[in-house]
Amino acid sequence: MFRHEDVYAKAGSQKKIPWSVIAALVGDNIINAHGENWRLFTSIMKPGLQRRITDSGPLLEKSRLFVDILLNEQEKAGMGIAVNAIIQRWALSCMGLNFMGVDLESLEKPGQRLEELQTIIKKTLFKPLFFNFPDLDKFPSVFHQRKVAFAIMQEFGDLLCETVRKRAPVTYETNGTEQVVDLLDFALKEGKITEEQYRNNLKVTFLTAHENAQQLLNSAFWELGNNQAIQNKLRAEILAMEMLTPSTDDIHSMPYLFAVILELLRLYPPVSQLINRVTTSKTVLGGDIVIPNHTWVGWNALGVHTDTQVWGPTARKFIPERWGSDVKAIQNTLRSKTTQCHFIAFNAHSRKCLGQGFAILQMKILLFEMVRRIEWTVDPTYELKLTSVSGSGNTYDVTPTSEGGILAPLMLRVILQERK
Ligand code: HEM
Repeated sequence: MFRHEDVYAKAGSQKKIPWSVIAALVGDNIINAHGENWRLFTSIMKPGLQRRITDSGPLLEKSRLFVDILLNEQEKAGMGIAVNAIIQRWALSCMGLNFMGVDLESLEKPGQRLEELQTIIKKTLFKPLFFNFPDLDKFPSVFHQRKVAFAIMQEFGDLLCETVRKRAPVTYETNGTEQVVDLLDFALKEGKITEEQYRNNLKVTFLTAHENAQQLLNSAFWELGNNQAIQNKLRAEILAMEMLTPSTDDIHSMPYLFAVILELLRLYPPVSQLINRVTTSKTVLGGDIVIPNHTWVGWNALGVHTDTQVWGPTARKFIPERWGSDVKAIQNTLRSKTTQCHFIAFNAHSRKCLGQGFAILQMKILLFEMVRRIEWTVDPTYELKLTSVSGSGNTYDVTPTSEGGILAPLMLRVILQERK
């Protein structure tokens, strides 16, 4: 499926249920477009999505602030603290700085409207009745809630455009440091894309660049909070660096840090399942599954990642060491597992994630700072509930027919303390 995008063509809700609230939110964009449009969006946005980040400073600064806030909250609460809202603020901050060219100051100034809208959008999209019967979205005049939902999506787009318009102007072709928002701006001015395509791509970048990191960090709190041996081993590697301000090269030199993140992505793939492709002709999948033309197809990352035939009898166990013991070996494992489609947290082949490099760097820097400064356990009163489609979902392209859901502990609470 991943190797033949011509046959298993991407088709998101803009194709499946174009009248719906979710289609109004994301429209036709770099993630769900196919063919000409996808090539156009990629040619514009790719340099910004894969921009090399050489200065660890801004991400480190946000990570420090994140840890300060956690410690402060813990001191005030004296018991387990809920982490998701603070994680969301960190994820929004990193996304803003690196893709939108703005410091949203979500950590510094909580409760801003753009942040608030993220929570509202998720709740709005995943209301069970409308989620299961998207046809109802055709009647906003009958269902007042849906009228409000369309208005919310509009407000988000408007506010995002207004926010990025306020940033310092960037001149075209300065030095290759342009961010996604700059590249979209230039393309709009040159008439390469329409205003609507501009908005759709800006919105989808905003959503995808923060949501997945947000969920992955929730999973990191859960897994390492339950697994002190791994938390300690990771801390030993970080402390052995004897550094407070590592460069990106220093960050990338730590094998266990890298392996822990990949193992998190393997057992807690934030995008755990998507059915957002449609066949363009009759085809045979895997040698024996005949699929008629125009059939919706998809994948399940958790299933692939826990397949014992692929990952061995320990497939369901959290064992970072399986990735290798030095950075080069880990990179090789990642490359080969991705090419074989045995590791699909970021998908594989022509439509694989363009933000993978950033996502891994951002997580490495955050874990470096967090594990260095705090120790934590999961609050013993917390009962694990994994996010589900109807709970708090992911706005990738989650529609009833796409059955996409993120996988991360919901409303997680931890108890933490500062390391002496
Ligand atoms: C832990 C973090 C992340 C995970 C797990 C993740 C996962 C994925 C997955 C599974 C897909 C394929 C979606 C599909 O089949 O429809 C994808 C595509 C994509 N991701 Fe990510 N992503 C992450 C972070 C990011 C970030 C930070 C960005 C930056 C904006 C980003 C940008 C994209 C883009 C542009 C695509 C579409 C690529 C294409 O179709 O050509 N992602 N990602």
